[in-house]
Amino acid sequence: MCEALVKYTIGEAITDMKQRIACILSCFEKEKTLPTPIVYSVTDSTNLRARELAEKGAPHGTAVIALSQTEGRGRFTRRFVSDIGGLYMSVILRGIPTDAAMRLTPYAAVCAARAIEALCEGVTVDVKWVNDLYLEGRKLAGILTESALSDDGRTLDYAIVGIGINLTNELDAELSRIAVSLDEVTAPPDIGLLSQRIVSALTLAARAVTDGGFLQEYRNRCFLLGQRVTVYGADVYEATALSVADDASLTVLLDNGETRSLSSGEVSVRI
Ligand code: BTN
Repeated sequence: MCEALVKYTIGEAITDMKQRIACILSCFEKEKTLPTPIVYSVTDSTNLRARELAEKGAPHGTAVIALSQTEGRGRFTRRFVSDIGGLYMSVILRGIPTDAAMRLTPYAAVCAARAIEALCEGVTVDVKWVNDLYLEGRKLAGILTESALSDDGRTLDYAIVGIGINLTNELDAELSRIAVSLDEVTAPPDIGLLSQRIVSALTLAARAVTDGGFLQEYRNRCFLLGQRVTVYGADVYEATALSVADDASLTVLLDNGETRSLSSGEVSVRI
Protein backbone atom coordinates (compact mmCIF):
# COMPACT_ATOMS: atom_id res chain seq x y z
CA MET A 1 0.00 0.00 0.00
CA CYS A 2 1.18 3.53 -0.74
CA GLU A 3 2.81 4.93 2.40
CA ALA A 4 1.15 8.34 2.05
CA LEU A 5 -2.25 6.71 2.48
CA VAL A 6 -1.34 5.24 5.86
CA LYS A 7 -1.62 8.42 7.84
CA TYR A 8 -3.13 6.74 10.89
CA THR A 9 -3.65 3.22 12.06
CA ILE A 10 -7.35 2.46 12.49
CA GLY A 11 -6.92 2.68 16.26
CA GLU A 12 -5.33 6.12 16.02
CA ALA A 13 -8.07 7.36 13.71
CA ILE A 14 -10.78 6.21 16.11
CA THR A 15 -9.01 7.82 19.06
CA ASP A 16 -8.65 11.04 17.08
CA MET A 17 -12.36 11.07 16.20
CA LYS A 18 -13.35 10.38 19.81
CA GLN A 19 -11.15 13.29 20.93
CA ARG A 20 -12.75 15.65 18.43
CA ILE A 21 -16.24 14.65 19.51
CA ALA A 22 -15.31 15.07 23.20
CA CYS A 23 -13.83 18.46 22.42
CA ILE A 24 -17.03 19.61 20.69
CA LEU A 25 -19.24 18.38 23.52
CA SER A 26 -17.11 19.98 26.22
CA CYS A 27 -17.09 23.36 24.47
CA PHE A 28 -20.88 23.34 24.19
CA GLU A 29 -21.25 22.22 27.79
CA LYS A 30 -19.42 25.36 28.91
CA GLU A 31 -21.87 27.56 26.95
CA LYS A 32 -24.92 26.98 29.12
CA THR A 33 -27.36 28.84 26.88
CA LEU A 34 -26.98 26.37 23.97
CA PRO A 35 -28.83 23.07 23.64
CA THR A 36 -26.56 20.01 23.74
CA PRO A 37 -25.54 19.29 20.13
CA ILE A 38 -25.94 15.93 18.42
CA VAL A 39 -22.47 14.89 17.26
CA TYR A 40 -21.70 12.09 14.78
CA SER A 41 -18.41 10.69 13.58
CA VAL A 42 -20.29 10.00 10.34
CA THR A 43 -23.83 10.64 9.13
CA ASP A 44 -25.52 11.00 5.76
CA SER A 45 -26.16 14.77 5.90
CA THR A 46 -26.38 16.97 8.97
CA ASN A 47 -29.02 19.07 7.17
CA LEU A 48 -31.21 15.98 6.80
CA ARG A 49 -30.68 14.99 10.44
CA ALA A 50 -31.40 18.55 11.61
CA ARG A 51 -34.57 18.74 9.55
CA GLU A 52 -35.80 15.52 11.13
CA LEU A 53 -35.16 16.98 14.60
CA ALA A 54 -36.77 20.31 13.71
CA GLU A 55 -39.92 18.50 12.55
CA LYS A 56 -40.02 16.79 15.95
CA GLY A 57 -39.82 20.16 17.75
CA ALA A 58 -36.10 20.50 18.59
CA PRO A 59 -35.45 23.96 20.06
CA HIS A 60 -33.81 27.02 18.54
CA GLY A 61 -30.02 26.63 18.50
CA THR A 62 -29.92 22.83 18.30
CA ALA A 63 -26.87 21.84 16.29
CA VAL A 64 -26.13 18.60 14.45
CA ILE A 65 -22.40 18.22 13.91
CA ALA A 66 -20.51 15.53 11.98
CA LEU A 67 -16.86 14.74 11.30
CA SER A 68 -17.81 13.30 7.90
CA GLN A 69 -20.91 12.89 5.73
CA THR A 70 -21.76 10.23 3.18
CA GLU A 71 -24.37 12.35 1.37
CA GLY A 72 -23.24 15.93 1.98
CA ARG A 73 -25.52 18.26 0.03
CA GLY A 74 -24.72 21.54 -1.64
CA ARG A 75 -26.87 24.14 -3.39
CA PHE A 76 -28.71 23.21 -6.60
CA THR A 77 -28.74 19.54 -5.47
CA ARG A 78 -24.98 19.31 -5.91
CA ARG A 79 -22.93 16.90 -3.82
CA PHE A 80 -20.71 18.42 -1.12
CA VAL A 81 -17.54 16.40 -0.55
CA SER A 82 -17.48 15.77 3.20
CA ASP A 83 -14.49 13.61 4.07
CA ILE A 84 -12.83 13.33 7.48
CA GLY A 85 -10.90 16.49 8.34
CA GLY A 86 -13.80 18.93 7.96
CA LEU A 87 -16.44 20.40 10.22
CA TYR A 88 -19.97 19.71 8.97
CA MET A 89 -22.72 21.30 10.99
CA SER A 90 -26.37 22.25 10.72
CA VAL A 91 -28.14 24.56 13.12
CA ILE A 92 -31.89 24.75 13.74
CA LEU A 93 -33.12 28.33 14.00
CA ARG A 94 -36.62 29.41 14.92
CA GLY A 95 -38.40 32.75 14.87
CA ILE A 96 -36.73 34.08 11.71
CA PRO A 97 -38.95 36.74 10.11
CA THR A 98 -40.01 35.48 6.68
CA ASP A 99 -39.41 38.84 5.01
CA ALA A 100 -35.75 38.85 6.16
CA ALA A 101 -35.06 35.16 5.52
CA MET A 102 -33.05 35.89 2.35
CA ARG A 103 -30.44 37.53 4.60
CA LEU A 104 -29.87 34.36 6.59
CA THR A 105 -27.20 32.80 4.37
CA PRO A 106 -25.19 36.05 4.20
CA TYR A 107 -25.46 36.35 7.98
CA ALA A 108 -24.22 32.77 8.39
CA ALA A 109 -21.30 33.57 6.08
CA VAL A 110 -20.32 36.53 8.24
CA CYS A 111 -20.66 34.47 11.46
CA ALA A 112 -18.43 31.69 10.09
CA ALA A 113 -15.87 34.13 8.65
CA ARG A 114 -15.62 36.02 11.96
CA ALA A 115 -15.23 32.80 13.97
CA ILE A 116 -12.49 31.47 11.69
CA GLU A 117 -10.59 34.76 11.74
CA ALA A 118 -10.90 35.04 15.52
CA LEU A 119 -9.43 31.56 16.04
CA CYS A 120 -6.83 31.55 13.24
CA GLU A 121 -4.32 34.33 13.47
CA GLY A 122 -3.53 36.23 10.30
CA VAL A 123 -6.17 34.80 7.96
CA THR A 124 -8.67 36.86 6.01
CA VAL A 125 -11.83 35.09 4.91
CA ASP A 126 -13.62 36.36 1.82
CA VAL A 127 -17.15 35.70 0.67
CA LYS A 128 -18.27 34.62 -2.77
CA TRP A 129 -21.90 35.68 -3.13
CA VAL A 130 -23.95 34.25 -1.86
CA ASN A 131 -22.92 31.23 0.21
CA ASP A 132 -19.25 30.41 -0.18
CA LEU A 133 -16.29 31.34 2.00
CA TYR A 134 -12.96 31.73 0.26
CA LEU A 135 -9.40 31.72 1.53
CA GLU A 136 -6.59 32.97 -0.68
CA GLY A 137 -8.68 32.49 -3.82
CA ARG A 138 -10.03 28.99 -3.15
CA LYS A 139 -13.23 27.71 -1.56
CA LEU A 140 -12.88 27.03 2.15
CA ALA A 141 -16.51 26.53 3.12
CA GLY A 142 -20.04 26.33 1.76
CA ILE A 143 -23.42 27.12 3.28
CA LEU A 144 -26.77 25.53 2.52
CA THR A 145 -29.83 27.12 4.14
CA GLU A 146 -33.17 25.33 4.00
CA SER A 147 -36.40 26.40 5.63
CA ALA A 148 -40.03 25.59 6.34
CA LEU A 149 -42.78 28.19 6.53
CA SER A 150 -45.08 28.48 9.51
CA ASP A 151 -48.87 28.65 9.21
CA ASP A 152 -49.06 32.36 10.00
CA GLY A 153 -46.44 33.13 7.32
CA ARG A 154 -44.81 35.88 9.41
CA THR A 155 -41.92 33.81 10.72
CA LEU A 156 -40.32 30.64 9.43
CA ASP A 157 -41.34 27.52 11.31
CA TYR A 158 -37.65 26.70 11.23
CA ALA A 159 -34.54 27.32 9.21
CA ILE A 160 -31.65 24.89 8.93
CA VAL A 161 -28.31 26.57 8.33
CA GLY A 162 -25.80 23.98 7.11
CA ILE A 163 -22.11 24.87 6.99
CA GLY A 164 -19.21 22.73 5.81
CA ILE A 165 -15.65 23.93 6.47
CA ASN A 166 -12.41 22.29 5.32
CA LEU A 167 -10.08 22.16 8.32
CA THR A 168 -7.52 19.41 7.74
CA ASN A 169 -9.10 17.72 4.71
CA GLU A 170 -6.82 15.96 2.30
CA LEU A 171 -8.08 17.31 -1.01
CA ASP A 172 -7.22 15.41 -4.17
CA ALA A 173 -5.39 17.18 -7.00
CA GLU A 174 -8.56 18.05 -8.89
CA LEU A 175 -10.37 19.46 -5.86
CA SER A 176 -7.39 21.39 -4.56
CA ARG A 177 -7.37 23.54 -7.70
CA ILE A 178 -10.63 25.11 -6.50
CA ALA A 179 -10.83 24.27 -2.79
CA VAL A 180 -8.54 24.84 0.17
CA SER A 181 -8.21 23.37 3.63
CA LEU A 182 -7.42 25.72 6.53
CA ASP A 183 -4.30 23.77 7.53
CA GLU A 184 -2.69 24.65 4.17
CA VAL A 185 -2.57 28.26 5.35
CA THR A 186 -2.64 28.29 9.13
CA ALA A 187 -2.86 26.12 12.22
CA PRO A 188 -6.44 24.81 12.19
CA PRO A 189 -8.62 25.97 15.08
CA ASP A 190 -10.02 23.87 17.89
CA ILE A 191 -13.07 22.22 16.30
CA GLY A 192 -15.12 22.56 19.48
CA LEU A 193 -14.50 26.26 19.87
CA LEU A 194 -15.09 26.93 16.19
CA SER A 195 -18.41 25.10 16.07
CA GLN A 196 -19.61 26.58 19.36
CA ARG A 197 -18.79 30.15 18.32
CA ILE A 198 -20.61 29.77 15.03
CA VAL A 199 -23.68 28.28 16.69
CA SER A 200 -23.74 31.00 19.37
CA ALA A 201 -23.60 33.71 16.69
CA LEU A 202 -26.30 32.01 14.64
CA THR A 203 -28.69 31.93 17.58
CA LEU A 204 -28.77 35.74 17.31
CA ALA A 205 -29.89 35.55 13.67
CA ALA A 206 -33.49 36.77 14.07
CA ARG A 207 -32.40 40.17 15.30
CA ALA A 208 -29.38 40.37 12.98
CA VAL A 209 -31.29 39.68 9.78
CA THR A 210 -34.06 42.10 10.78
CA ASP A 211 -31.62 44.86 11.60
CA GLY A 212 -29.28 44.14 8.66
CA GLY A 213 -26.30 45.87 10.26
CA PHE A 214 -24.00 42.98 9.27
CA LEU A 215 -24.67 43.55 5.55
CA GLN A 216 -21.91 46.13 5.17
CA GLU A 217 -19.38 43.64 6.51
CA TYR A 218 -20.78 41.03 4.13
CA ARG A 219 -20.32 43.45 1.20
CA ASN A 220 -16.77 44.27 2.33
CA ARG A 221 -15.92 40.57 2.28
CA CYS A 222 -17.49 40.00 -1.18
CA PHE A 223 -14.64 39.72 -3.64
CA LEU A 224 -16.94 39.46 -6.68
CA LEU A 225 -17.91 43.12 -6.58
CA GLY A 226 -16.39 44.99 -9.51
CA GLN A 227 -15.43 41.70 -11.24
CA ARG A 228 -16.56 40.19 -14.54
CA VAL A 229 -18.74 37.18 -13.78
CA THR A 230 -20.63 34.49 -15.66
CA VAL A 231 -24.22 34.10 -14.52
CA TYR A 232 -25.73 30.60 -14.67
CA GLY A 233 -29.52 30.58 -14.48
CA ALA A 234 -32.34 30.15 -16.98
CA ASP A 235 -29.83 31.61 -19.45
CA VAL A 236 -26.05 31.96 -19.21
CA TYR A 237 -24.42 35.36 -19.76
CA GLU A 238 -21.52 37.57 -18.75
CA ALA A 239 -21.87 40.71 -16.66
CA THR A 240 -20.08 42.87 -14.12
CA ALA A 241 -21.00 42.34 -10.46
CA LEU A 242 -21.93 45.74 -9.02
CA SER A 243 -23.34 45.46 -5.51
CA VAL A 244 -25.24 43.44 -2.95
CA ALA A 245 -28.66 44.95 -2.21
CA ASP A 246 -30.35 45.04 1.19
CA ASP A 247 -32.37 41.95 0.25
CA ALA A 248 -29.03 40.14 -0.37
CA SER A 249 -29.60 39.97 -4.13
CA LEU A 250 -26.62 40.62 -6.40
CA THR A 251 -26.94 43.50 -8.85
CA VAL A 252 -25.09 42.94 -12.12
CA LEU A 253 -24.51 45.19 -15.13
CA LEU A 254 -24.86 43.60 -18.56
CA ASP A 255 -22.79 44.78 -21.53
CA ASN A 256 -25.91 46.35 -23.10
CA GLY A 257 -26.28 48.66 -20.08
CA GLU A 258 -29.14 46.71 -18.50
CA THR A 259 -28.91 45.96 -14.76
CA ARG A 260 -30.34 42.79 -13.28
CA SER A 261 -31.00 41.75 -9.72
CA LEU A 262 -30.01 38.14 -9.09
CA SER A 263 -31.68 36.13 -6.38
CA SER A 264 -29.52 33.46 -4.80
CA GLY A 265 -32.08 30.73 -5.24
CA GLU A 266 -32.16 31.07 -9.00
CA VAL A 267 -28.63 31.62 -10.22
CA SER A 268 -25.03 30.86 -9.44
CA VAL A 269 -22.16 33.08 -10.42
CA ARG A 270 -18.60 32.26 -11.38
CA ILE A 271 -15.62 34.46 -12.10
C1 BTN B 1 -22.48 24.53 -1.24
O1 BTN B 1 -21.28 24.67 -1.31
O2 BTN B 1 -23.22 24.49 -2.26
C2 BTN B 1 -23.13 24.41 0.11
C3 BTN B 1 -22.53 23.30 0.89
C4 BTN B 1 -23.14 23.11 2.26
C5 BTN B 1 -22.55 21.92 2.96
C6 BTN B 1 -23.01 21.77 4.36
S1 BTN B 1 -22.04 20.59 5.25
C7 BTN B 1 -23.19 20.59 6.54
C8 BTN B 1 -24.55 20.61 5.91
N1 BTN B 1 -24.98 19.28 5.55
C9 BTN B 1 -25.12 19.12 4.24
O3 BTN B 1 -25.48 18.06 3.68
N2 BTN B 1 -24.82 20.26 3.60
C10 BTN B 1 -24.44 21.30 4.54
